[in-house]
Amino acid sequence: MPATPREVLELLQRLLSRAYAPYSQYPVAAVVRSSTGRLYGGVNVENAAYPLSRCAEQSATLQMVSAGEREIAEVWVLSQGPQPATPCGGCRQVLSEFARPETPVHCLSTGGSELHVTLGELLPHAFGKRYLHQT
Ligand code: THU
Repeated sequence: MPATPREVLELLQRLLSRAYAPYSQYPVAAVVRSSTGRLYGGVNVENAAYPLSRCAEQSATLQMVSAGEREIAEVWVLSQGPQPATPCGGCRQVLSEFARPETPVHCLSTGGSELHVTLGELLPHAFGKRYLHQT
């Protein structure tokens, strides 16, 4: 089990307290490390119109892209409770736009249990830009 770098863990914990999850009461924080080594964090941001809610992984990815970066090298997710949350189907697709099948995804829980997988394990046979504009 790879140890989470202290800097990442501290960022995840700080972010978790900023999650806006009044409807689900399920705060989630995510950090992506870009190919340049910078860290970008995000939290879930829910909305009274439920489908407009954003997951933490998407928030973190949007931060990275908004900062001018396009490559995700590693992903961490921290959720509350005994079991770590895995990224939802939509987040797997969003991550896959900027990551590779071998990109590590670390799912951590405040209860201490961890799941370490790759994006390719979470989303095999992903649809991606390589399918578009084929002649
Ligand atoms: N959620 C995330 O932000 N990331 C995950 O990996 C799992 C689920 C959010 C969406 C919603 O705000 C809340 O957790 C409950 O589903």
